[in-house]
Amino acid sequence: MTIYAIIGGQWGDEGKGKIVDLITHLYADNEEKKIKYVARYAGGNNAGHTVQVGDDTYRFHLLPSGILHEDVINIIGDGVVIDPRVLVEEIEGLSSRGYRCDNLKISEKANLIMPYHIILDTIEGGKVGTTGRGIGPAYTDKIARHGIRIGDVVDENNELDEQTFRRKLEEILPMKYKFLSNVYGSELEKHGIKLPKLEDILKEYLFHVDKFKDKVTDTSSLLCKAKENGDNILIEGAQGTMLDIDQGTYPYVTSSNPSLGGIFTGTGVSLVPDKVIGVCKAYATRVGGGVFPTELKDEIGEKIRERGCEYGTTTGRPRRCGWLDVVALKYATRVNGFNEIAMMKLDVLSEFSTIKLCTKYEYNNGKIDYFPSRLSVLEKCRPLYEEFPGWQEDISSVRNYGDLPENAKGYVYEVEKFVGVPISVISVGARREQTIIRGY
Ligand code: GDP
Ligand code: IMO
Ligand code: MG
Repeated sequence: MTIYAIIGGQWGDEGKGKIVDLITHLYADNEEKKIKYVARYAGGNNAGHTVQVGDDTYRFHLLPSGILHEDVINIIGDGVVIDPRVLVEEIEGLSSRGYRCDNLKISEKANLIMPYHIILDTIEGGKVGTTGRGIGPAYTDKIARHGIRIGDVVDENNELDEQTFRRKLEEILPMKYKFLSNVYGSELEKHGIKLPKLEDILKEYLFHVDKFKDKVTDTSSLLCKAKENGDNILIEGAQGTMLDIDQGTYPYVTSSNPSLGGIFTGTGVSLVPDKVIGVCKAYATRVGGGVFPTELKDEIGEKIRERGCEYGTTTGRPRRCGWLDVVALKYATRVNGFNEIAMMKLDVLSEFSTIKLCTKYEYNNGKIDYFPSRLSVLEKCRPLYEEFPGWQEDISSVRNYGDLPENAKGYVYEVEKFVGVPISVISVGARREQTIIRGY
């Protein structure tokens, strides 16, 4: 039995979706190595995971990226927050493309994103530059014990539980609305936001949840049985280590634990991974606000954005781009215990004659080679680079490591050397087959 964890090693959008699909695909015909379960454990529809199969592109927000493999059970775990409207949209969108999602299971413990969470995020999320999907307020309510779980809307017989849902709403809604009106009354007016009535929320949510109520179950028990059975399980991270609420660049982070620790609470099983695969780009990107030491606000950053199509999968915002920061990647490796790294989008760097790697920071006239946890320190850090010659040829059709240009191999080697972890996968294009696999 092998448990794989796929975790973002940077600020999200590293290419996790491609790796989840790839590993699931790789062993599809191998009875012993076949992945039987893919499970999401954190985040919500702030995530946007892209899977490209042939000419078809799929973008998943709540559905796990193994969903196209119909004999693999895909789980939305306990730690995920769910906007039912978005989930139904995704399920219906996929079913119109021929996938029925019969292989989807949804945790009864997952918390719901409610309309007032989205309203709050619209008002409060600006500074961090959130995705505006209600993620932060939904997690805030979960921790404050004011959350509503999927299991409050669907009963143990997979029928709608209108009574419990109504009771919860009657208890929580007046409190939320009092806060919103008292604290943000003028903001609500300014944005022309009307607070929806309890009956309307009830009706709308029951309408959506009705469409997936048969998929709601105790996913923690399901995964526990899978573990006892010795099945291979792949755990899919969302966001990235630098966006982790505890380990990331707080407060410019998301409101969950995308790093390794989130797996245990977010699946409800002691799934200790045999392989922790950190996913990183050959460069760095970040969406939204917050410190980003290697950001390039010049034509090089612009070129990376254009070549890498660096626009948000969820919000369409242009991503901030810069050189790879191995100080940050080493930190992410430490936090998660990566035993391998998948380096994505190496093809995007093909155009540059020189490639830079941030290996240290300059701080207070000295040099540091660790990632500081105090934002006040990090904000004063300036990147110090080592330069490497580029390869300036198209590598998107290379499939074997040995066929990469020497300078591309040199760059991969340098990153491995600095981070101290083998790069087992090198991705040279968005498609499944545009991948160099070294360690499998
Ligand atoms: P995720 O959130 O980590 O799953 O990543 P996203 O899907 O948000 O962003 C990654 C983007 O890069 C997607 O558009 C992918 O199709 C694309 N992509 C993935 N790997 C490669 C690669 O090796 N080369 C190029 N050019 N694009 C890639
Ligand atoms: P995937 O899974 C990149 C960023 C937002 C914002 C911050 C907080 O596709 O890698 P939130 O809406 O979560 O409260 O926003 O986190 N963010 C992401 N950036 N990829 C993601 O997901 C992200 N999910 C959230 O841009 O800066
Ligand atoms: Mg993404």
